Amino acid sequence: MAMTRRSLIQAAGVAPLMGQAGTAKNDRVQVGMIGTGARAQELMQALQALPGVEIVAVVDAYQGRVQRAIERTDGRAKAYANYHELLAQPSIDAVVVASPDHWHRQMVVDAVNAGKDVYCEKPLTYATADGIEIIRAARERQRIVQVGSQGMSSTVQQKAKEMIRAGRLGRVTIIRAAYNRNTASGAWIYPIPPDASPRTVNWEMFLGPAPKRPFSLERFFRWRCYEEYSGGIATDLFVHLCTTIHYIMDAKAPAKVVALGELYRWKDSRDVPDTLNAILEYPEGFVVNLSSTFNNQSSSEGSFQILGTEGSLSLGDGLTFRAENAIEDNRWIVDSWPTKLEEAYYRDPKIRATEVRDSWPQKTVAASEQYRQEGIDTTVPHMANWLASIRTRKPYWEDAEAGHRAAACAHMVNLAARDRRMVEWDYSKDNIKA
Ligand SMILES: NC(=O)c1ccc[n+]([C@@H]2O[C@H](COP(=O)([O-])OP(=O)(O)OC[C@H]3O[C@@H](n4cnc5c(N)ncnc54)[C@H](O)[C@@H]3O)[C@@H](O)[C@H]2O)c1
Repeated sequence: MAMTRRSLIQAAGVAPLMGQAGTAKNDRVQVGMIGTGARAQELMQALQALPGVEIVAVVDAYQGRVQRAIERTDGRAKAYANYHELLAQPSIDAVVVASPDHWHRQMVVDAVNAGKDVYCEKPLTYATADGIEIIRAARERQRIVQVGSQGMSSTVQQKAKEMIRAGRLGRVTIIRAAYNRNTASGAWIYPIPPDASPRTVNWEMFLGPAPKRPFSLERFFRWRCYEEYSGGIATDLFVHLCTTIHYIMDAKAPAKVVALGELYRWKDSRDVPDTLNAILEYPEGFVVNLSSTFNNQSSSEGSFQILGTEGSLSLGDGLTFRAENAIEDNRWIVDSWPTKLEEAYYRDPKIRATEVRDSWPQKTVAASEQYRQEGIDTTVPHMANWLASIRTRKPYWEDAEAGHRAAACAHMVNLAARDRRMVEWDYSKDNIKA
């Protein structure tokens, strides 16, 4: 029997799309892209790998990226002059916000108020108060808002969460995570397209709510380097780590944060630190060390470690579990006692059970387990989870609340580093303590 499009979609596990009044609509989710820069082009490819969705509209402040986005849809997507015009189209069900961070709040709030579901790239917010506003708007308009830290949709992170829940690590009290780089591109000094000029770049559109500044291609294409558009390392990189930590540890937000940041090397290109270290303390009973430098990358190996009393997990492209092998050994202390007391000490069966390592016969025990991830890029399942939420109206884990709290960690780190003080979280207000 020939498969119809509807049966194909059902075979792929895609529920029919419901309109706002609960009526069945066109089966394909009609998506508009707000910002079609480097990340958005990856998101477009992820969406195109999925059934039941079509990219119908695009908008960007640089013409070259509009052109590339339209090429990616074989000319089918329509370009709009600005994102308000795109949001005014009733046929568009949902939008992807992949603009620079200083635009996220306004675009997400405008999108949900226009009745659209939203996928917003991480960090959800540029400032913590933005998150409160986004959560309120999404609740009022009953819109799906999913945030784009795709790592938490990877099977290895889900496996890590299961292992921690099952108690394989014992009690986890410390997590160490780092992002280290040593290249210009790693430090966000991206190449600028040769046709970029005031003719092809809409500078006012980029600036939006940011302070007025003269036209600058560096600021436009390397906006992560400037605090007027970005929170630097914390909002670009730590936010991914915090999302993962909150997800796998079932944690909400750190109670206390201290941090130090320094700009040691890339001074000509930015006003944000190139080296940042932070400590985040969680009420669930663990502490997190976050660290990043753009001045050396050799220390990136094994850079995400979850350390428990019974074992550790090392998280990256794969997952490694190592059982703890902590052996009591008081030999050198007891060796200073009178001989008789030492002999008596080691005759005690309780001591022999914990301290004496020369048991006979020998045994072989499992010391580690390794898992690697195979299959499609994690952005694809993350976007599939968004599309599923749009159809079922059930939010996925990384919703506006989760995105708000992960981004808030980054803002707390920046505030602590800037003011050289400890920053605290107010759980009753879901906001930084005033
Ligand atoms: N999840 C991930 O792994 C990941 C990876 C990279 C980037 N990101 C996030 O994606 C977002 C975009 O980052 P990027 O690297 O693609 O940056 P980018 O500079 O390549 O793209 C941003 C685009 O937004 C456009 N833009 C700016 N103002 C606009 C406006 N008012 N209306 C429409 N378009 C506008 C710019 O012209 C630009 O093309 C950021 O929030 C970033 O943190 C996430």
